[in-house]
Amino acid sequence: MKVHAAALAGVPRSDETTPAFASDAIAGLMQHPKQIPPKYFYDAAGSELFEQITRLPEYYPTRTELGILRARAAEIATILPRHAALVEFGAGAATKARLLLDACEFAAYVPVDISGDFLNAQARGLRKDFPHLQIYPVTADFTAPFILPDQVREMPKVGFFPGSTLGNFEPHEACRFLHGARDILGKGAYMLIGVDLEKNERMLYDAYNDAAGVTARFNLNVLARINRELGGNFDLSAFTHRAIYNRERHRIEMHLVSKRPQTVRLRGRNISFRSGESIHTENSYKYSLDRFIALAKGAGWTPSASWSDPGGMFSVHALRS
Ligand code: AVI
Repeated sequence: MKVHAAALAGVPRSDETTPAFASDAIAGLMQHPKQIPPKYFYDAAGSELFEQITRLPEYYPTRTELGILRARAAEIATILPRHAALVEFGAGAATKARLLLDACEFAAYVPVDISGDFLNAQARGLRKDFPHLQIYPVTADFTAPFILPDQVREMPKVGFFPGSTLGNFEPHEACRFLHGARDILGKGAYMLIGVDLEKNERMLYDAYNDAAGVTARFNLNVLARINRELGGNFDLSAFTHRAIYNRERHRIEMHLVSKRPQTVRLRGRNISFRSGESIHTENSYKYSLDRFIALAKGAGWTPSASWSDPGGMFSVHALRS
């Protein structure tokens, strides 16, 4: 099963995660307002839907970040230390890491992800294309402390956290993650991080309300997953996808809204919905350059360079520890 790791930190695989999934889903659905943590989007079906999202015309972040990395790779290479270890927090398809590996002289690549099988498959592909690169996959939840392999201890370190996954963390979690990354990478380390920017609200709205309905299917998949894995009886046709931009909180919010009064059974419990009641499934925070820089400084990093696309839609930052 391929789990998209660009997705959230510590996205566990479904077979290992049922007890946590069950308790988090039940606890979230008993709260007011109801919620389900976004990390549960990413089972195999959800990861595939997320891949499709990244190719949608309305979903600008993935291609914009790739464009920035492509355009700036040579410049990035002049900032980063040579013969460093590139430590990627959450290893996706490695498309973005490959751009850096091509442009910069890294000695080692350390992809960190909860899914060991996925990491190993990805490492096999990279070994073929980068025969001189040392590759040390680490199977770990990268939102918690983990230890880097001994082999990279003496190398300079460069952390890599693309995709604006940071935006799916609450601000205090984002700060905690950045602090933790600094502790893991050590003094003198660099961090390259992709951050989605505040922009025209119509563009934001469209990116999370695509015409083909892929984001709606992605959102609804979490209910399908509860039915599949936890024996729930959600009627997916009785919920509708809603994504709105919350201007005060600088975030896209995704919700699943009940179309009518209904009661769902889940693990011996009745969960009742009023018509129009929502389950809050995700926040995707959008930063201004200044707010991100303040966040990074608050977490102990020194911003050393920022790049964005000509339209100012997305940003990539180099931070120094
Ligand atoms: C993974 N993450 C950065 C995506 C985002 O844009 O917040 C998840 C997503 N949700 C809906 N569309 C994409």
